[in-house]
Amino acid sequence: MRKKILAANWKMNMTVGESEAFLETFLQEVGEEKRVEIVIAPPFTALSKVSDLLRDVQYVWLAAQNMHWEKPGAFTGEINAFMLRELFVRYVILGHSERRTLFGESDEIVNKKVIAAHESGLKPIVCIGETLAERDGNMVNEVLERQIRGSLAKISVKQMDETVIAYEPVWAIGTGRTATPSQAQEAHAFIRKTVAEVWNKETAENIRIQYGGSVKGNNTAELMAQPDIDGALVGGASLDPRAFAEIVANTCGLLA
Ligand code: PGA
Repeated sequence: MRKKILAANWKMNMTVGESEAFLETFLQEVGEEKRVEIVIAPPFTALSKVSDLLRDVQYVWLAAQNMHWEKPGAFTGEINAFMLRELFVRYVILGHSERRTLFGESDEIVNKKVIAAHESGLKPIVCIGETLAERDGNMVNEVLERQIRGSLAKISVKQMDETVIAYEPVWAIGTGRTATPSQAQEAHAFIRKTVAEVWNKETAENIRIQYGGSVKGNNTAELMAQPDIDGALVGGASLDPRAFAEIVANTCGLLA
């Protein structure tokens, strides 16, 4: 049984003060919910504060939104895995489509980061997904397979067990346009099949594949009910503590 993983990707939002206010409301709303894994990815500037606030909270985990693959050194403006580990960060989102399109991250770059994350004990959440033009051109499977093989090149079976994949169709991110549950399920099933081909069947059965792209309280249940959807990566709706708590509640509702 794969435990569902619900992650809040705050992107370039939330000051330290706003993060604190969010957590106060969110923790109250969500209660001590351990049936799903809850993850919060604040911007770097709020990581330290959120880490402190979550120190005694055993059911919400911390993620970073990006990192550089190098060891400490002369890389102005960058943050590496060692720095994240010091703050008890558990996950790191890598290869988000905004990183790929706005900051030029190729599969090769994402792969270096995934390798570095595993080497230092961080669990990567690796994002993949097609653009609208690629979907319209019937290239979804081709794009997903290329991203899986490229971003996860040289990752061992053991490391795959500590990896999460996030399927985020680029056209659904921040657009209010969600993939239908069957479109999402189809892509997730293809991703799982590809993982079985590249690694093995057991790895494919164990790996968690999140859906991301305009997930909200009112579309959570039907998406999370799909057999190959193991959680959500949530942007916009994760900025409101009540909206994110509703996503958690509606996912847990399926497990009751
Ligand atoms: P969204 O973002 O929920 O605002 O569509 C999802 C994401 O980019 O991870």
